[in-house]
Amino acid sequence: MALITKAVKGTQDILPSEVYKNQFIEQIVIDIAGKFGFKELRIPVFEHTELFQRGVGETTDVVQKEMYTFDDKGGRSITLRPEGTAGVARAFLEHGLFNEALPQKLCYVINCYRYEKPQAGRWREFQQFGVEMLGTSSPAADAEVISLANEIFAFLGIENLQLELNSIGCPECRKNYHNALREYFESKKENLCPTCLERLGKNPMRILDCKSPVCKEICEGAPAIIDYICDDCSAHFESVKKYLDVMNIDYVVNPRIVRGLDYYTRTVFEFVSTQIGAQGTVCGGGRYDGLVEELGGPHTPSLGFAMGTGRLLMLLEAQGIELPAPGACELYIAPMGENASLEAMKIVHDLRSNGISSQTDVAGRSLKAQMKYADKIGARYTMVLGDNEIEQGKANLKNMDNGEVTEVELESLAEDFMQFLIKQETEALRLSFGEDIGDVDLSALL
Ligand code: HAM
Repeated sequence: MALITKAVKGTQDILPSEVYKNQFIEQIVIDIAGKFGFKELRIPVFEHTELFQRGVGETTDVVQKEMYTFDDKGGRSITLRPEGTAGVARAFLEHGLFNEALPQKLCYVINCYRYEKPQAGRWREFQQFGVEMLGTSSPAADAEVISLANEIFAFLGIENLQLELNSIGCPECRKNYHNALREYFESKKENLCPTCLERLGKNPMRILDCKSPVCKEICEGAPAIIDYICDDCSAHFESVKKYLDVMNIDYVVNPRIVRGLDYYTRTVFEFVSTQIGAQGTVCGGGRYDGLVEELGGPHTPSLGFAMGTGRLLMLLEAQGIELPAPGACELYIAPMGENASLEAMKIVHDLRSNGISSQTDVAGRSLKAQMKYADKIGARYTMVLGDNEIEQGKANLKNMDNGEVTEVELESLAEDFMQFLIKQETEALRLSFGEDIGDVDLSALL
């Protein structure tokens, strides 16, 4: 019985008192990505299971252990997306976007689903903002995508995030690396977990992101991919670094980053924080030059990243960064009696049409209870409306912060109240910035 009043493990509600933060982030990431030419793409929550098996990779933890997979009533195997890249690549192919201007720059804000062990910063349902740039092999693209993530963190005022960079080469140079890894892990075989033993034959690189503590320890002594990459991959990596240097974007090369998904080639990167606990990777991404081809499309070198909104919010909180809260109710009109209730409804209707957030009683409450409610919802101004006020066509606006009262005409309330708010805002700006703020149009703020 208690189950029905408890959210499923690893999921979370975002309450009205908090949701503005998500809304703010969702909007600014899309806006900033738009400045780089990225356009939003919306993809389905579920896809054919095979897309992730092929795209993300059979030997990854995500596919082996973490997918929410089920048969639908038509007998299809369906999976809730564990990430966005495979779905974007599928949509790119399905809609022939490869025939349009390349690179295609796409971005998305999506919920993803992974059956992982929930802990701080790790949920089974989580939101990602991601970008994908399809159809370019230039190192300039790698740097641009990284600079976009960097720009978002800078815009939010986040500090102390470390950009960690690596190259995991192309399938050609990876052959030598796989041999070196196999040789190394063969010698430690008896201590590897059963999953990693299987990986040893199929894809030894995946052992490097095993979460078992024993395997993790063994991995510490494993050869690093960066020492095995071919000349072309090495030149690409050097060039990416030069582009980052001209933009003054700091990074460290971390030869241990291999990423947990199979599609990556060449550049991989993560933005890591030490301030939000064990799940410190706020953003991760890289190149996936073979994915589109793997899914049956033309050769389309591509790259992208995704950042988790939940971890981003944890980081903002850890750094004491507050996001702008939405304006509260500007005016609460408290009617007394039936006539006044009708008049109040008419006035708030006018105010709202003029873009002013306002409320009135819709619960048949006493005046006292209404004022309590206005206080609770944080109304900036209140106005009591009774038969007297209606008769005289005038009422008093009360500033709930300082108790100041201003008389207003009911006839022109919407227009006058707007002017009144503009005057207040201008005054507040004058106090912060001095006299010389000129003619500012504040109506857009309301
Ligand atoms: P990923 O590293 O698996 O990459 O996830 C990207 C980000 O999503 C992580 O850095 C983290 O912030 C967030 N995240 C992942 N799993 C969870 C979870 N269980 N709970 C909360 N947040 C989580 C990808 O998904 C790739 N598709 C990124 C990419 C795009 N690469 C190229 N293009």
